Amino acid sequence: MAVITGKAPGKIILFGEHAVVYGQPAIAIPVAKVKATAHVFPDFESRAGEIHIQALDIGLDTFLFELDPQHPLAAAVNLTLAELQLEHIPAFQVQISSNIPISAGMGSGAAISAAVIRGVSAFLGRPLPDSTVSALTYEVERIHHGNPSGIDNNVIAYNKPVYYQRGQALQFLQIENETHWVIGDTGEKTPTLETVSDLGTRHADKPHYYDQIFQTIGVIAQKARRALIEADIKTLGSLLNENQALLSELDLSCTSLDSLIKAALDAGAEGAKLSGGGRGGNMIALASPAKMDAVEKALYDVGAVNVISTKLAREPQS
Ligand code: MEV
Repeated sequence: MAVITGKAPGKIILFGEHAVVYGQPAIAIPVAKVKATAHVFPDFESRAGEIHIQALDIGLDTFLFELDPQHPLAAAVNLTLAELQLEHIPAFQVQISSNIPISAGMGSGAAISAAVIRGVSAFLGRPLPDSTVSALTYEVERIHHGNPSGIDNNVIAYNKPVYYQRGQALQFLQIENETHWVIGDTGEKTPTLETVSDLGTRHADKPHYYDQIFQTIGVIAQKARRALIEADIKTLGSLLNENQALLSELDLSCTSLDSLIKAALDAGAEGAKLSGGGRGGNMIALASPAKMDAVEKALYDVGAVNVISTKLAREPQS
């Protein structure tokens, strides 16, 4: 049996983070330059059903039965096995690696789960469709994030730009003209769970105040949908800035994010905002191709620990 590889990309939210948890629409795109990979292959030294899991980046080298079932890697493998309902499970090994920054708003946890689910199901001869990969990834996310909106598992499992709203059919965005984005990492690691639950507490205290802000963010995401498809970068730029002002009002920005956002705008970006959980992690800026290098340099100059540029382009017609 050969080595089977499951992969999943990172992601970045362009519009609507946090408000999406409260039922507003949001837009996210996959980031192919970073990815999670799961290599799955037979383990001839173990007994049937024994599953060896290695994630050397985080110093993990163990058997599935030794892991806490709540551990995300154990949950991803167990949910896959439960979905497949196979009578015979051979001994196999899962080797996981990822270059997606952790706790930085780029979906590293969801991408690792999706890669494992894909790799294990394909290795066992029953590759799961993207819809099931997405649903199972959501289940793993739920264990750790409490109340994930569902946008991360969808953008990552389908590897397509999405317009997502809880309880509505998922929309894939058919991009007509390309846009260019720069992602700058503050290097500050803040788990999404932390900012989502903090905002949850504040929302419970003053629901009316927060719901109004979420609704305004929802309207921004609605307007951004068409502007993104058509690459109307002037409109997108101002919508990014408006969304950032509201995220700041929600107290989700911080000094390092503000300084990267300001640097990107000063260097000629059309718009910029934090992306994902906030209070650290990544920001994104939209720039014309001519300004990309200047924006990248400006981000490094004010202390970004990593900068990734990515293009959102029309999908090749198959
Ligand atoms: C995390 O990538 C985006 C948040 O809106 C949380 C979620 O949607 O589950 C902050």
